[in-house]
Amino acid sequence: MAIFASLFALPWLSREVASLYLNVTAISARNGSSVLECWQMTQPFDTSTEPGISGTAQVTLSNASSLAYSVLPPNFDGGVHHAPANQWVAFIAGLAYITLPDDDTAGAYISGGQFGLIFAADTEYISVKGHRTQYPGLTETVALRIPTADGKVPEHQVLHPGPCGASEIAGVRQFGMPG
Ligand SMILES: *[C@@H]1O[C@H](CO)[C@@H](O)[C@H](O)[C@H]1NC(C)=O
Ligand SMILES: *[C@@H]1O[C@H](CO)[C@@H](O)[C@H](O)[C@H]1NC(C)=O
Ligand SMILES: *[C@@H]1O[C@H](CO)[C@@H](O)[C@H](O)[C@H]1NC(C)=O
Repeated sequence: MAIFASLFALPWLSREVASLYLNVTAISARNGSSVLECWQMTQPFDTSTEPGISGTAQVTLSNASSLAYSVLPPNFDGGVHHAPANQWVAFIAGLAYITLPDDDTAGAYISGGQFGLIFAADTEYISVKGHRTQYPGLTETVALRIPTADGKVPEHQVLHPGPCGASEIAGVRQFGMPG
């Protein structure tokens, strides 16, 4: 199973595709402590030729080993835990709040929806304590959990410590707007 992010866009915008890179907030670890980072994928967007989405922007992110659908109730507290495996988590509804036991200055709110994709890499092998996830929304939070095939971390560069900012994830909007 291959995982793609697809954006349905107007074909005449596709010339801009190859220079755009997806940035995702990641939970990684440095020196045994979980950290939040903004990662830029090494693989740029390209133009799909697949029937039904031909001519629109997509980027291949990784292969996947499984796919699980989770429903977290409002005010659920996941506590401090490790990423069970290197995995994508796509929040498709609700609200998640990620904090770090070793850095109380850092935190990230992830809203379910278009910008709800993160990568969780703070497994027990690289982080002593892990991270904490709470779900402070008024509704349930729905997440797709997608471990990568063979536990591979997608190729990326770290843009900076801390979660990606709004301007670092909104670049995909250009595919949806007429020139
Ligand atoms: C890593 O953590 C150890 C133990 O807390 C500490 O002694 C060391 O200075 C840290 N190294 C860096 C590069 O932060
Ligand atoms: C997915 O798996 C195939 C078959 O092993 C491999 O050729 C391809 O490079 C993998 N893609 C990624 C993004 O890792
Ligand atoms: C990723 O970050 C770079 C650098 O800040 C930015 O130019 C680009 O538009 C971002 N990508 C998206 C999809 O927002």
